[in-house]
Amino acid sequence: MILVTGGAGYIGSHTCVELLNAGFDITVFDNFCNSNPEALARVERISGRKMGLIEGDCRDHASLVAALKKCKANAVIHFAGLKAVGESVAQPLSYYDNNVVGTLRLLQAMQECDVKTLVFSSSATVYGDPVQLPLTEDHPLAPTNPYGRSKLMVEEILRDLHHSDNTLRISILRYFNPVGAHASGLIGEDPQGIPNNLMPFVAQVAVGRREALSVWGNDYPTPDGTGVRDYIHVVDLAHGHLKALEALEASQSAQVNKSGQCLIVNLGTGLGYSVLDVVQAFEKASGRSIPYRIAPRRPGDIASCYADPKRAFALLDWKAKLGLEEMCASSWHWQCTNPKGYQS
Ligand code: UD1
Repeated sequence: MILVTGGAGYIGSHTCVELLNAGFDITVFDNFCNSNPEALARVERISGRKMGLIEGDCRDHASLVAALKKCKANAVIHFAGLKAVGESVAQPLSYYDNNVVGTLRLLQAMQECDVKTLVFSSSATVYGDPVQLPLTEDHPLAPTNPYGRSKLMVEEILRDLHHSDNTLRISILRYFNPVGAHASGLIGEDPQGIPNNLMPFVAQVAVGRREALSVWGNDYPTPDGTGVRDYIHVVDLAHGHLKALEALEASQSAQVNKSGQCLIVNLGTGLGYSVLDVVQAFEKASGRSIPYRIAPRRPGDIASCYADPKRAFALLDWKAKLGLEEMCASSWHWQCTNPKGYQS
């Protein structure tokens, strides 16, 4: 049994589908602060399987212990956390509380219940402004905002913890830019209010909910002057979690290495696309035009960011399969069938 914290969120819900499809039994632990229980109903519909649900907050040690015991978890995938960079600058304590304290409580609860396997959602944000591209896992870590620092702090806690108990099996997954939606059109990203991120904003422009995209800067040192990112299809990302879990379990059953593991792995495609590449691909996928205007750079943005994905292939036997076309087409499908997200 796997406890999936934050399983109702964007990446969590897509991972739940893949876990259920692969035959894993799962229980979701979520406080729904930035997600909707409807996502879980749809996960069950897509997979044709049931899952457990415990409503709770990761900062609540007692409810985590109760959840781990109740579902007899032998592994945890930890998605629960806050993820908006701008909000983290305005409300740093909330980010350290949810992301750092929440994870600390979870780790204490796991220790108490003798659960030794963890897959943790980190972010390419931990690298900060790249000094070298593509980003390999040993690139220096220098996040530039409280959200990124909260992820790095947890990574450091996990390294220390593994050092103190090397029978633990831990995977730290550094996501690049997750986009797209499940092919069914039943689950997808459902941002509250005005989307901060490019793809959901573009999708809302295409469907007529917003007038035009602001392109934050066209004077970056990139081929067309706009920011370049490594967009990764959320379904590929979800598979990455399965692969990470399987790699940890394989190391346990083969006993090759009794000492557990602490893997740190990038999940990206290795390809960089500019803002205008994304606009063009989305226009093609949707058949709609995406009006845009060039606006000043967004403070804190970097020019280019893309992964070296080799380690994920070597250690997890995982690589991204879906391209920008599928990312745009699935976002569009989700946007059209659910114009107001889960409230549609
Ligand atoms: C952002 C976060 C990052 C997080 C990631 C999750 C910031 C500074 N970084 O990354 O920590 O891990 O989301 O997906 O917020 N863009 C526009 N117009 C828009 C929105 C975006 O031109 O309305 C541009 C941005 O300038 C950037 C690119 O599109 O060049 C991607 O932006 P976004 O989707 O917000 O992702 P990141 O900034 O890479």
